[in-house]
Amino acid sequence: MSGLLQVRQLKLRYPGAPADTLQDVSFDVPAGSLTALLGPSGCGKTTVLRAIAGLAQPDGGQLLLEGNDLALLPAEQRPVGMVFQEGALFPHLDAHENVMFPLEAAGVAPREALARARHALDAVGLAGFGSRWPSTLSGGEQQRVAVARALAQAPAVLLLDEPLSSVEPRLRRALREEIRDLQRRLGLTVIYVTHDQREALAVSDHVVLMEAGRVVQAGSPRSLYESPATAFAAAFMGEASIVTGHRDAAQSVWLGPIALAQPHAGAEGPVQVAVRPEAWRVLHCAQPGLAGRIVKRSFLGRQMEYMVETQLGAVLVHVPAVGAGLEPGAPVSLQLAGHGAWVAGG
Ligand SMILES: Nc1ncnc2c1ncn2[C@@H]1O[C@H](COP(=O)(O)OP(=O)(O)OP(=O)(O)O)[C@@H](O)[C@H]1O
Ligand SMILES: [Mg+2]
Repeated sequence: MSGLLQVRQLKLRYPGAPADTLQDVSFDVPAGSLTALLGPSGCGKTTVLRAIAGLAQPDGGQLLLEGNDLALLPAEQRPVGMVFQEGALFPHLDAHENVMFPLEAAGVAPREALARARHALDAVGLAGFGSRWPSTLSGGEQQRVAVARALAQAPAVLLLDEPLSSVEPRLRRALREEIRDLQRRLGLTVIYVTHDQREALAVSDHVVLMEAGRVVQAGSPRSLYESPATAFAAAFMGEASIVTGHRDAAQSVWLGPIALAQPHAGAEGPVQVAVRPEAWRVLHCAQPGLAGRIVKRSFLGRQMEYMVETQLGAVLVHVPAVGAGLEPGAPVSLQLAGHGAWVAGG
């Protein structure tokens, strides 16, 4: 039911638009994996999905599914299911009928269409909801019907365009886990579009990060978070403090008295170093490390956030919130964990 999807140098300009919306978009979606397509509003995420589904006409590039050129097939013959950003249920059809509609349009016999609709609604946890009208379903339930409708078509590739954007945060989390379970259980190849970096990190096997019609970086959630390729990627994937460190002749990079775990090739001299808030270890001030003083603290629930003033400037630090925490004014010593700090510029 699943397949490898390859997006190759996709270019697309909407009629009348002054510039290319997609400039050179390439990435792979391995069979049976969930790939998050991430990026700020307007960067072209929906356009990529529309091109794959055959709803927008690329000006260049290739779309290969298991090595076969998708462009040879009209939209309705592509083995691709899409769930749109705005839940697009037919209001005058009940849940079963909504799921059956595209099947019947494709010539599936009514009895088989009904059986597949039941099965798909079961799969998204909506058994027994078949005769409900969209207006009587919650936003999350409506989105699940839309997912069931895409699933019932047994697509080789499932495209989800911010499927949970209208769902409140708590339910959103439960539903995204449900989508993830379903994807794993059925071995689906899924592209999951979101502009929420936390959602992308939580839900995916791979992340493709876009900026202004281009892919900036693609890789595992961890690699994008811990080794972002550009300043944009670093900022988009999470918070980081930028401090000036020093690279020595042996290519070690120092923040005052502490060294990054990885050497970084380049000329001796000052370098910009980015550090994620949770990459710091906060120790008693008598311990060796980068000396600092707490200037501000905020309770974030599971974490404490400290602003720590050091000889290199102020840095943001997150540590698990246990006990009373440290008071503003307290002297501390900072060390680095083995990850979450990298050279961000010369
Ligand atoms: N039919 C269209 N005609 C002309 N321009 C369009 C059309 N659809 C989208 N665009 C433009 O193309 C760019 C990319 O749009 P797209 O919908 O792909 O962005 P997106 O990454 O999905 O954003 P969002 O996160 O807000 O949904 C935007 O600048 C948008 O205004
Ligand atoms: Mg969009």
